[in-house]
This record gives sequence, C-alpha cells and structure tokens, in this order.
Amino acid sequence: MQQKIIILDFGSQTTQLIGRRVRELDTFCEILPYNKFPVGDDSVIGVILSGSPFSVHDPEAFKVDLSQFVGKVPVLGICYGSQYISYANGGKVEKTNTREYGRAHLETVDTQNPLFKGFDQHSQVWMSHGDTITAIPDGYECIASTADVKYAAFYNSSPTGGAQEGASVFAVQFHPEVFHTVQGSLLLKNFVVDICGSKQDWSAASFVDTTVAELREQIGNDRVILGLSGGVDSSVAAVLLNKAIGDRLTCIFVDHGMLRKNEFTQVMEDYKVLGLNVIGVDASKKFFGDLAGVTDPEQKRKIIGRDFIEVFNEQAKSIISSSKEGGQEGAVRWLAQGTIYPDRIESLNITGKVIKSHHNVGGLPKEMNLQLCEPLKWLFKDEVRRVGRQMGMPEHLITRHPFPGPGLAVRILGDITPEKVRILQDADDIYIRGLRDYKVKLSGEEARRVLAAGVPAAMQDGEIEVSLYDQIWQAGVVLLSTVRSVGVMGDERTYENPVALRAVTSTDAMTADWAHLPYDFMAKVSNEIINKVKGVNRVCYDISSKPPSTIEWE
Ligand code: XMP
Repeated sequence: MQQKIIILDFGSQTTQLIGRRVRELDTFCEILPYNKFPVGDDSVIGVILSGSPFSVHDPEAFKVDLSQFVGKVPVLGICYGSQYISYANGGKVEKTNTREYGRAHLETVDTQNPLFKGFDQHSQVWMSHGDTITAIPDGYECIASTADVKYAAFYNSSPTGGAQEGASVFAVQFHPEVFHTVQGSLLLKNFVVDICGSKQDWSAASFVDTTVAELREQIGNDRVILGLSGGVDSSVAAVLLNKAIGDRLTCIFVDHGMLRKNEFTQVMEDYKVLGLNVIGVDASKKFFGDLAGVTDPEQKRKIIGRDFIEVFNEQAKSIISSSKEGGQEGAVRWLAQGTIYPDRIESLNITGKVIKSHHNVGGLPKEMNLQLCEPLKWLFKDEVRRVGRQMGMPEHLITRHPFPGPGLAVRILGDITPEKVRILQDADDIYIRGLRDYKVKLSGEEARRVLAAGVPAAMQDGEIEVSLYDQIWQAGVVLLSTVRSVGVMGDERTYENPVALRAVTSTDAMTADWAHLPYDFMAKVSNEIINKVKGVNRVCYDISSKPPSTIEWE
C-alpha cells in the first residue's frame, strides 16, 4: 500500500507549498479540505494541518474534529494549525493588534526533540500570524521560542494520555514550508521521514511503473482518445498511456491557427518520434472565420472554446465509428486529459478564491459515453517534468513554457486576423529564440531554486549555466494592435503597432512576478523585432506582477 501524508487545508496560500515539500521528500501526500479527513484509511502515516486566513476566534473559522487522527498517527500543526491545536485542547490563543509578519530567529530550540533534530541555535524562521498563543494546553511542552513568540513550537508525546508510541502532536507557529525558514525542509524531513516513518519510495520511476500497471488494469482492451496541446502535461499523459496501451491510444492535435510560429509542424514531428498515434487537424480557417471582427476578450475565448470542442468532437466521433467499422478490438470508452494536481486543488479551494478557471477540452456530448482518464492527476508540474524525463522524452518538450489553450488570440488586442497572427508569430519567434540563446551563470540560492524546479544543468565550481528561457516560467509577445504610434525608419515616417514583451517568474501561475531581464538582452531583441518584423515599430516591456495584473493580457 502506498504510504501517504494527509495535508488538511484550512485555506492558507501556502498549503500547496507544503504538499510540494512533502513530495520533495519522495513521499506521497494528498491535500484535502479541512473537513474531509479519510477516516479508516490505513495508508495515512501522518497529518499536517495548514495555515488559514482566519483566526480561531472568527465565527466562520474552519474547525476540525482532531480526535479523527490525534493519538493514531503523528500530527503537525502549522500556524493556524498550531493555534487550532492549542485552542481545541484548552490552551489560549489571543487576538493581538499587530500582525507579526517576516523573519524571526529561534532564541531557544530543543534539539533533543525529534522535530528539531540537527537544528542550529538561532535558526531563521518565517512568521505570518495575527493571533498569538499565550498558553499551551496541559500535557504539552514548549520546544522552541523566538524573542517575541514564547510558544513558537510545542508538542505532546502522548496526546491521548496513553502510552501510545509515535503518535505525537507537534505544533509550530512559523511556516516551515516557505523558503525563508532556512531549516524548514529539515523540519519537514524530521517529521515525514523520522517521525511518521515514510519509506521515501514515491519517485518518478515508481510512479511510471505503478501508473502504467494501473492504466492497463483500468482500460483493459478499450480504446482511448486524448487531446494534445503541445504542452508538457498532455504530452506526458500521452506517452504514459502509449506505454500502457500502445496504439489503442489515439491523440488529436487541433491547430486553431494561433499557435507559435511553425509549432504545429514541429510538435507533430516530436510526437511521431515518440511513437504516438496522432491525428493533426488544421482547423485554422474555421477559427479565423468565426473570430472575424470579434474584439471582446471573453467573447473570443468563448468562440475558441466552442470551436475547439466542435472540431475535437467531430474527430472523436469519426475515430469511434471507424474503430467500429474496421472491426477493431475494443471500443473507445475513455477520454484522457493531462489534468495535473494543482488544477484540481484550485477547483477544491475551500475559500473559493479562484481568479480564472481554464478548460480546453470539456463538454463532450453525453451520448459519446466516455469516461475520464487523468493519469497525472496527482502530480505537481515539476513532477510531471520528472516523469517525462524518466520516460526519455526530449528536453525541449519537457521544459517548454506553459502556453494558453486559446493561443496567440489572448495576446492580440482587438480583432484577430491571419496577418496579425503572422506579425505576432514573427516577433514572438525572435523573442523566444533570444531567450533560449542567452545564457546566464547562477550560483547560491538562485542556482538552487532553478535546479529544484528540475532544470537539467550541471554545477561547476559552484555555478550553473542556464538559458534565460529555462530561468523563467513563461514568456511571450503581445501585439497591441489597437494602438498605433509614429516612428521613423530610414527616411520614412511609420505609423504602426507596438508590441509588449512579457516574461514572468512563478511556481504555479497563481502569482507571478515580472522577470528582471538583462538590459543588453532587451536592447538586442527590441532592435531585431523592429528591424525584421514589418508592422511593428516600437517594443515595450511589461513590468506588472500578478496580482494585480494577470500573466496574459486578455
Ligand atoms: P493568467 O493570464 O490568468 O494565466 O494569469 C495563468 C496561466 O494560465 C494560462 N492561461 C490559460 N491556459 N486556457 C489555458 O489552457 C486559457 O484560456 C488560459 N488563459 C490563461 C496562462 O498562459 C498562464 O500560464
């Protein structure tokens, strides 16, 4: 049985980060809403309670019945989780007027306690809380303090009063999952591996083996169809399914005419090399026809979404009927998707603060009677990449930036025409090639962060060399076709459109910061775009972060 840690989500922004940290310890975990603990599931080896935007005293605060797991498996409460443990067991949590936010240092820390094994005195931690714990419950003992917070960590080795070994409760007021808690990963390792007893057997290789076996079992002799987008998620899902059921998987790749320059042809070639059975459909005429004259961003998205489903369904139906006519063994019973874990956690988000939701393939007619197959539904993005590498997929497919389903349509302001798409494709191509060609040397924390994201770079003399492309989350050009400005080229006055370059750093696209690209790079790209792309006479750089902006312009 696959061991797992349950992370109960009380609505904190860093809950997903806790999940990622646990996975980095090669340990499977599930993030569940605070009130959905799987009682009776024997594979649970430990429970982590997340932080929360609420105070335990708020009337709408999320409350959980701790007796479902306390005393049965080890428990770690983080921030609100620690306050809730105190509050629910007769300790005292008081409202304070000032919110404590930022760096602090542990003044005292009990390194004999298994949670703090290997900790340095004065280790830096990250605090973010309004309430303060002013008394801990009976039976609990303080194991760390900062100058301002007496009960920075506390624990109880026999929370039910009995002598049950190994089911201790730990509570920390600070956030071990965030980067600024310097020994946070060590604390989580102490909890997950030493205290909960994780065997650390969750790896890309074990994932591929078990998932391929499960898919064979689930699908039997049936056939599966899958929509490919050229992105990493759907490609990895396809390769995994291909490994499991071979050519009983048929992939559909729709070209809506708004992909990057030459992308359709290149990606089709990649897929062929990977041995996938892919039907490429050039539907650009239909999309351009239906989008003609439409300027409203939501309207554009709706048309693209609808057309996409129509084209996809038509293909799916013809695959289904030809498999029947051809007397092929097995009926088409499954629709596979490259849904990944964060897509699902967002949709579960208990505080309901989702900003936009994205669906590319959805709404297949009921009469097709297809069941959903989502082999990547438990993986974070970096894990998807690791699984892709494990299966020998080419690096350029794996490290490809995310690209929106509606493609360049959400990067052209105003109506969409093939000519505008051509201009944008040319500018975008110069920009992306430039990002790939420009190499930077990184060391220390910066290097560590890039390596942790799975970028394959070799460390030499404490440095790594990576391209700008690999250093950032996502980049693209936006054509401001509703704006024109004056320029001069040679002896001629021009009156043309500007483009905006966008590049952001992010870990999950929920928040993002604009990337600080080197000036010499920007100067070179700007020159090249204005000189080579007819129709563009000005280049700007977008310096907005998300929130309050979004990554895409529409
Ligand atoms: P925003 O613009 O909301 O984008 O900050 C967040 C991430 O989602 C991508 N995106 C989309 N992906 N269909 C998609 O499949 C869409 O309609 C869509 N809109 C935005 C965007 O590129 C970024 O990675």
